[in-house]
Amino acid sequence: MKKGRLLTGDRPTGKLHLGHYVGTLANRVRLQEEYDCFFLVADYHLLTTRLDQLEEIEQNIRDVVLDNLSVGIDPDRSTIFLQSAVPQVPELQLIFSMLVSVPRLQRVPTLKEMMRDLHITQPSAGLLSYPVLQAADILSVCGEIVPVGKDQASHLEVTREIARRFNEVFAPVFPEPETLIGEVGTLPGTDGKAKMSKSIGNVIYLSDDRETVTQRVMRMYTDPRRIHPTDPGTVEGNPVFIYHDAFNANKAEVEDLKDRYRAGRVGDVEVKKRLADALNAFLDPIRERRRRFAERPEYVEEIIVEGSRRARAEAQETLERAKEAMKMAYYRGVRHRA
Ligand code: TRP
Repeated sequence: MKKGRLLTGDRPTGKLHLGHYVGTLANRVRLQEEYDCFFLVADYHLLTTRLDQLEEIEQNIRDVVLDNLSVGIDPDRSTIFLQSAVPQVPELQLIFSMLVSVPRLQRVPTLKEMMRDLHITQPSAGLLSYPVLQAADILSVCGEIVPVGKDQASHLEVTREIARRFNEVFAPVFPEPETLIGEVGTLPGTDGKAKMSKSIGNVIYLSDDRETVTQRVMRMYTDPRRIHPTDPGTVEGNPVFIYHDAFNANKAEVEDLKDRYRAGRVGDVEVKKRLADALNAFLDPIRERRRRFAERPEYVEEIIVEGSRRARAEAQETLERAKEAMKMAYYRGVRHRA
């Protein structure tokens, strides 16, 4: 018996990186036995900011699905689906948009961030409704737990408000989903900036080969005040050690390196070499699974087709229950026959 429903997803912006892993993918894999899991590729969400690069979407969808499969999402156990293949989601979004005010959506902090980063002066109604669409994703399958990166917390707040409001105004149909944030919090970029981000290029992708990973690690930002290996170094907040903590399975080695770093008895080169080895050991099985799935594109497509069918059936049922609760069962005959 499963503990409940889990839903989360990714916008198809390209390949996923180590930041995604610690933020959400690790939790997905960890919880996939306990929960009935739904993972969506949010292609409609991409339209809220990127109408210009639509020719890339198809490849990006494939990459995002491959990344999920390669970290260990089991397609026999979990449902992977495409948002735009489930029209019940935008239908729910329409209903939900009546339950949240425009000023509330204008206060969502990620809206201002997206506008600033993408130089948008006049947000579209679609961009403003981004969190409403996300609520529809989650609630379309009555998701109860949502593993996401920290940056998504404010969206989940909106989801809970919408669920609560629907249940108050009509009848208790929806759960108020719980936000689950990865243990490491936010992984800094290889340049030491607060966050890994494709647009800055401070990223290590799950699909990077050994040489690329090693190169990136050897060039990583570390304690800038340390000039000689005999200088005492700072471990806290040092990205090289944050990565060691997150990915090096050999905890004794990490503790030893930290001690020697603080005491000025190890060089940055050695610390980085060991990180590169640890990361490559972590990524090897992921690369191997990716290779196996990538060899079978028809199978991967079938996974998305089947998943979308299942999600559609679930979402249809949810929508019916929502409409019942809203007393929209009037003219049910017409709706069903039309
Ligand atoms: N907005 C999320 C992101 O950018 C992606 C997403 C879309 C999502 N729909 C979702 C995450 C539903 C969790 C649940 O990362």
